This record gives sequence, C-alpha cells and structure tokens, in this order.
Amino acid sequence: MSNSVRLLLVLLILTVIGNNDNARSIVYGVVDEYNRDDFPVDFVFGSATSAYQVFDVNSCLYIVDFEVNVCNCAMINKVEGAVLEDGRSFSIWDTFAHSGYYNGANGDVACDGYHKYKEDIQLMADTGLEAFRFSISWSRLIPNGRGSVNPKGLQYYNDFINKLISHGIQPHITLHHFDLPQVLEDEYGGWLSRKAVKDYIAYADVCFREFGDRVSHWTTINEANVYSIAGYDMGFTPPGRCSYPFGFHNCTKGDSTSEPYIVAHHLLLAHASTALQHGFVGINIFAYWFEPYTDTIDDVKATERAHEFYVGWFVNPLVNGDYPEIMKKNAGNRIPNFTKLESERIKGAFDFLGVNHYATFYVKDNLSSLEMETRDFNADMAAITIGINDFPLRQFVVMPMSLQKLLNYLKEKYDNPPIYIHENGQVQPRNGTLIDTPRVEYLHAYIGAVLDAIRNGSNMMGYFVWSFFDVFEILDGYESGYGLYYVDLDDKELTRYPKLSAHWYAGFLKGKNMSDILDNMDAKETLSSTD
Ligand code: GAL
Repeated sequence: MSNSVRLLLVLLILTVIGNNDNARSIVYGVVDEYNRDDFPVDFVFGSATSAYQVFDVNSCLYIVDFEVNVCNCAMINKVEGAVLEDGRSFSIWDTFAHSGYYNGANGDVACDGYHKYKEDIQLMADTGLEAFRFSISWSRLIPNGRGSVNPKGLQYYNDFINKLISHGIQPHITLHHFDLPQVLEDEYGGWLSRKAVKDYIAYADVCFREFGDRVSHWTTINEANVYSIAGYDMGFTPPGRCSYPFGFHNCTKGDSTSEPYIVAHHLLLAHASTALQHGFVGINIFAYWFEPYTDTIDDVKATERAHEFYVGWFVNPLVNGDYPEIMKKNAGNRIPNFTKLESERIKGAFDFLGVNHYATFYVKDNLSSLEMETRDFNADMAAITIGINDFPLRQFVVMPMSLQKLLNYLKEKYDNPPIYIHENGQVQPRNGTLIDTPRVEYLHAYIGAVLDAIRNGSNMMGYFVWSFFDVFEILDGYESGYGLYYVDLDDKELTRYPKLSAHWYAGFLKGKNMSDILDNMDAKETLSSTD
C-alpha cells in the first residue's frame, strides 16, 4: 500500500472520529497496528461463500422439464451433466436467475466449486483459513424438498466436510442461503406457508444427523431480514415477489404489504424449532449501521426505528419473545402474533447471532408515510434510508466505527449475545485488478474495528470475509466481486488468482504484524505496477 493511500485511510478514519457525535459512554477508536495474536485464541477467522453462488454446478444447459423445475440433462452431452448425474433439483434462486433478472447470467456453472472443491480447500488451507462458512443446497440434498435423501448430494457434502477437517479448517454451515427448493415454492408458496416450517425442520434434522458428528456450528437462515424484505417487498432477490406501488421492478406476483411479515414469522418459527434440536445454532441477519441524517429529534428517533425494523424484527423475538412494539404498532394486523407457547419457545432459542455488515446508511424521518392507507415494510418503518456509498468507484466507504457502534448497540440492547461477523468485505467491479488495495484497506480497518469491539466487551466469536472467491453475486450476478481470489470465467479451467487482499489476509492469519504485511504489500504493488 502506498503512503498516500495509507494517509488517505488515516484521514478517513479521523474524519469518522471527528463526526462521532453519537458516541455515548463508549470510546470508539480504530486500532491500526494489530496481529492475529491480539484476538482470543478461540476466536475464528475465516471466509465464506454459499451454495448457489459457487458450489452448485448445474451443468444443465437446456431445461427440458421446466414445469417441475427439475433439470433433465438427458439431451446434453456438451458438459458433464452434473444435475442429472447428481440429482439436484432447482432452487428458487435458479428460477430467479433463469427468469432473466441478471441479464442472462446465472449460477449454472459459477466457479465450478462442485468439481474443484479439493483444490479450493487446498487454497483455503494455503491462505490460512481457520474456518470456512458455506451453505448446503437443500435441493441437492433432498431434491423433492422433503422425503428421500439424494445419496450423491450426501456423499458430496460428506467429502467436502471431511476435506475441510483434514486441513484443520472448521466447517460453519448455513442451511438456507436464498435457495429454497423450487418444488416447495410451487407446491405451497414456499415460506409464505407454514408447511415450509415443517419441511425445513425435517431437512435440518437430516443435516444434523448426517453431518452433526463433525460439524458443530450451524446457521439456520442467511439474512432472514433480507430474504423477507428484498424477496417479498422489493422483489430484487429470490423469489422476487412484490406488489404495486412497492417493489423495485414490476413483479408479476406478491403482496408487499403483508408477505414480508408472514415469511419472517415462518422463518423465526423454523429457526426456533431447529435451534432447540442440536449443537451450536444461530440465525444470520443483515445489518447496516444507521446514522441520523441530521441531529433533529425526528431523525434520531427514525434511526432507532430503522434499527428496530431491520434488526429488532428478528433479534427481539429471540431475546425477548416478541416483535418490537413499534413494529406491532405500525404494521398492525399485518404482522402475525406469536402464541404464548411460540413466544416462550423462541425466547432464548439461539446460541449466537450471525451478522452480515457492509455499509453505513443515513436515516431520515418519514412519519408521513404512516398516513398512507396501503403500506409496506418501508412505509411502516416511516423512515428513508440513504446509502453512504462511493458510487463512482462502486465500492463501500470505509467506516469501521460503524461496525463498532453496531456491535456495541447489539451488546447493550440485547444483553451481549455471542456474535459471529459472518460477512464483511469490499465490493469492486468484477473484472478489475488483482491489486485490490481498497479491499485491503477495508479489511484492515474493519478487522481492527472487531478487535476494538472485543476490547470494549462485545462477545465476539469469529469473523468471515465475504467472499473467498468472486462468486455469482445476489445483486448483480457477475458484475461485481468481493473475492480474495479472482476466478477467470473466460478460461475453461476457471483458474483462481489471488488478489492482493488474499496475500494480506494470509499474512495476517499467519501471525504477521500489520506493518510487516503492509510493507510486503508495497513490494507486491510496486512489482505488479512495473510488470
Ligand atoms: C449478502 C449475501 C451474500 C452476498 C453478499 C454480497 O446479502 O448473503 O450471498 O451476495 O450479500 O452482496
């Protein structure tokens, strides 16, 4: 990293410190010089991907039997026919991608992680990962959504888990990462129906039974809040439902006013029943840090409302047994009630919270939206969120203190729950450069923020960089990338190339001091700029 870039980073950090009007009793700082040994020994560092985004080779180029959404590759000998061969059926993400949402891109091949997993795990070991977060594809393991287990799917995940363990890498499994089996969506409307709760519990039981002897860390649902809001109010993630005038595009189906609340309710019920069954089980939520747009009381209150709507929606039931009062008040009878028994079961039904954090948003009061007769989640929240993004560069502004504030907020408000940062990382346009200095700066700053949070008493358990590779991204397919490794999609071998950030992370994980790593980076940067 050049001195000017370092200076810029320091200035950015100072700017954020300068703007830190919101700090209460806690002193926020960003530690710059640190190494692996500064973190507790049982705190794990890893990286992450998810099934559809990297692993799920779906070599079926022609979907013959689209009606039942099962790929029939009988006509295909062009590629290996992994779907036919290995029995995976469509998930709602396949359907969403194949609907043309990503301008023709999809995860059919993605990084071919399905076939390349041995070399990929070797790469993880070389990078020094202590843990790896990945998801199981429900529709690979149980292609009919319920009932018989696909032996090839089972074999694949057993091999994968065994390989990780043989390299000393702890497996952290997510059971649901935006990829409900399409058959269940077709049969009863997926998570809109309570039937999904039952099928999910049975699926989770299979996973616990088959892999639980070697896997102790389980996440029930990835980004339960995003799945509900983006999938059923705004319509920009699978299953892509929304209704006019809400939604980011013209959805053909959905009801933005009620579906997000119904889906979230079922996700919580499914999570709670699962969490009671086995090992160390948590749920994952997406969390911005929200700052008031101005220091007016209205914006400050709106900011707290935004936290309640995004985070409290899931965490309050888990900690206190019910939805936040403000949500119940504003959504009225569109938000389902928990019965007394459900509430008792949900309360405390988690061993950790998985938090995905990338960026900071401003919040502006919008109380007038409560006057609308028809309201969606955003109108009920009565707040407008405004991204603090570096749009020309298409990357996040580095604001590590936001992560500290978020972690402190969770600690104070929800009785210091154990937390994994399940996703954090910097986005860049995909086919950019391997010298991803902005990603190094981002990771350096945010991992420092985690260390500060630990020192401030947060119950932190681990940190995972999103993502290990440039994967098929939920928002824009192959347009952007977060990876430590670049995957060359134009090369039929799909060769992986380490970026500067992979070297940086490896140096950190191998115990080097930050200044030594950064000096080494300078050398690498100079080397490649003179190539
Ligand atoms: C999250 C999601 C990931 C990944 C990431 C970056 O919402 O869990 O799958 O795509 O965002 O956009």
